[in-house]
Amino acid sequence: MFAYDFHTHILPGIDDGSPDVETSVRMIRALQAQGVEKIVLTPHYYAENESVAEFLKRREESYATLMAAPEASTFPPMLLGAEVRLKQGLSQDPDIAKLCIGDTRLLLLEFPYIKHAPWMMQEVENLTYQLDIVPVLAHIDRFLVWGFMTDKQLAEAMAFEDAIIQINNEVLEERASKKIFKKLLKNGVPFLLGSDTHNMNNRPPNFDKMADFLRKYDYEQPEIE
Ligand SMILES: [Fe+2]
Repeated sequence: MFAYDFHTHILPGIDDGSPDVETSVRMIRALQAQGVEKIVLTPHYYAENESVAEFLKRREESYATLMAAPEASTFPPMLLGAEVRLKQGLSQDPDIAKLCIGDTRLLLLEFPYIKHAPWMMQEVENLTYQLDIVPVLAHIDRFLVWGFMTDKQLAEAMAFEDAIIQINNEVLEERASKKIFKKLLKNGVPFLLGSDTHNMNNRPPNFDKMADFLRKYDYEQPEIE
């Protein structure tokens, strides 16, 4: 039913997501049971904490640990990526392009949790036109609902045609975000869905609720490869 889970913290021991392989396996099994065919692995990347090279080394180690699990042969296809926190000057580091998902030019980009400012869209444009990246704006609805963006700023970010919108399944939980989501569906705007799952407790895989909701709509996730 779902071609992808585009946003997950399933890789073990690398960020605030899955703490160990056992949890990662349970998360993967839950997503499979919810009809997800491919999983994009997007651990947090914060440029102020480490270089891209350091992050990639940690990601490689975490991935190797996961793939050493006895269940690995039955895992669905998985693509490596990152959830990159936007900061001023991010686009000045050409290595950022190495964080794109799989062999694509798609980069999952998370706005900072501060009042939206003009430099943010400037950085998004620089990433697009200087580094030839296609920004995927992570759970964009959240910034409006949490009060970091105004309606106008959200509309402006979503109107940037060279970016793609990513929506978390949690969009259904709040009235304001559900409204934005319904509008996207109604207008046929393409978006990528993600669980943003971090664990099996308070942030488990949640495509089941989205599947129920989307039954009323004629929706197909865009292909990314
Ligand atoms: Fe995330």
